[in-house]
Amino acid sequence: MTTNDSVITDYTSTDDAAVVRLDNGKIILQTVDFFTPIVDDPYTFGQISAANSLSDIYAMGGHPLFALNIVAFPIQKLSHTILSEIMQGGADKAAEAGIPIVGGHSIDDNEPKYGLVVTGEAIEENIWTNSGAKPGDQIILTKPIGTGIISTAIKKEKVSSSIALAATESMKTLNKKASEIAQKFSPNAVTDVTGFGLVGHLIEICNASDVSANINYKQIEFLPGAIDLVSEGIIPGGSKRNLDHAEKFTVFRSSLSSNQKLLACDAQTSGGLLLTFPPDDAEEFLKAFGAKAKRIGEIVYKKTYSVAIDN
Ligand code: CO
Ligand code: CO
Repeated sequence: MTTNDSVITDYTSTDDAAVVRLDNGKIILQTVDFFTPIVDDPYTFGQISAANSLSDIYAMGGHPLFALNIVAFPIQKLSHTILSEIMQGGADKAAEAGIPIVGGHSIDDNEPKYGLVVTGEAIEENIWTNSGAKPGDQIILTKPIGTGIISTAIKKEKVSSSIALAATESMKTLNKKASEIAQKFSPNAVTDVTGFGLVGHLIEICNASDVSANINYKQIEFLPGAIDLVSEGIIPGGSKRNLDHAEKFTVFRSSLSSNQKLLACDAQTSGGLLLTFPPDDAEEFLKAFGAKAKRIGEIVYKKTYSVAIDN
């Protein structure tokens, strides 16, 4: 692979965005994400996908600058109105983030796909990575877990509209506020919770930081309906794979049921920020952000495991 002295993080670290230093000392961040529809409503899908794409910039402590659309769409099979609605959802979410969508690329494809390439900027000293977590740090999560389970239930039409709505609201919420408030304090490690699930992303932080994490399962907040849906057998393939992977690095105390393990490993779409702060900063962040953020555990010195979850 070709390397370049200006590249600060790339895909070899498990960070959320590429970080490149420009000659004038400024730092640019860049990230790309796109996926197939997870809800029926095209406008909402556009909003969720854009919020998810923007999240990696927020998870690095950066500010987004502009974005490009990535679109795949079955031009012959589906109405152009649907495509317009998807892109309007994306544009409105980008506007909420304070940035324009300045271009993009689309292809004809059997299954619709949508997402953004997002470019952002940051101050080098303030960039958050996965590798800075320290023993004693408090672990905070800013959105409830369960979007993977509920998205699967939506596809199977096995979910009430109120449960679907709560999950949709959570997925389309930008991590902008969480990021901006966290920038006033000093998080030691930050990532956003997406496909690898809560435990998977926490394992990344622990392994990159050479520490371990103790999680209190009771402190993890789940979206309404998620716990019931798992007990009804709604288990996304990605979440099952996450659990298989997590078990190599995680001690699940015997009081945890297999459904509880799956819930903790549920693959998220547009999940919240997962932050580790020194105790005083954690307190201040929780006060400033409000009740939706939860303290779920603590970073400890490196153990034989990466993550332990107690009930
Ligand atoms: Co990420
Ligand atoms: Co990403």
